[in-house]
Amino acid sequence: MLWKNSKVDRLAIIGGTGLTELSGLELVRKEMIRTPYGEPSGPLIHGRFYGHEIVFFARHGYGHTIPPHKVNYRANIWAMKQVGVSYVIAVAAVGGITDRLEPGMLVIPHQIMDYTYSRKHTFFENDLAQVTHIDFTEPYCPQLRQLICNGSEANGVGVVHKGVYAAMQGPRLETAAEINRLEKDGCTVVGMTGMPEAALAKELDLCYAAINVVANKAAGRSEGQITLAEIRKNLHEGMKRVRELIGSTIRQMANLECLVKTA
Ligand code: HPA
Repeated sequence: MLWKNSKVDRLAIIGGTGLTELSGLELVRKEMIRTPYGEPSGPLIHGRFYGHEIVFFARHGYGHTIPPHKVNYRANIWAMKQVGVSYVIAVAAVGGITDRLEPGMLVIPHQIMDYTYSRKHTFFENDLAQVTHIDFTEPYCPQLRQLICNGSEANGVGVVHKGVYAAMQGPRLETAAEINRLEKDGCTVVGMTGMPEAALAKELDLCYAAINVVANKAAGRSEGQITLAEIRKNLHEGMKRVRELIGSTIRQMANLECLVKTA
């Protein structure tokens, strides 16, 4: 496989809550990678999906045991780079802040606001002679985002083509007042894992985009409490559509003109 004729150009799918395995993925082999940053959340799964060899990786571990603030984002991203991944589609559950976002909907975010703290968030912390300030004006690869959006049209999977992702520390959900503040800040969806993952991917020059699955309306945006049962049910429905969307994106990967990755 083979996008852009390069042997090392590999696509990875990072699965979040509700996507600890990719049904339809034909297992080729599992690979545990050691990194200078410690252990990744689990082995990388090399497999075939829609006729292409890809890498699948469960962000929270395969038993979903690692909470958002404990994920070793550096080790995960490093491991992917190590095995020749160039493109990453990161799937993550979110709460919908804006009214029109209903549970089960898919959003392809274009911007991020980072409210996380105390996470290991950079690869550039030791060699002070060479601090690198990456450009993060566009946190997600616009070309890969576009490809995903095109895939949704080709496939009839309706998605919202833009979103501002608020990365919160978790693991608790937000207060209603916090959600009001996020909305004032311009955020449309809220999750806990989007950062530092996106920034680390950029530091290693990966082409990275996200598919957000609305698991619930954010705190204070619907009657009553947000329950885990409700989140699970909505994610289950949403993930079926995520799989289709990934499939139609993969079918178009050969058309990807990514400015970030030029190998
Ligand atoms: N807030 C933060 N993260 C989330 C939510 C939420 O409402 N739903 C799913 N992940």
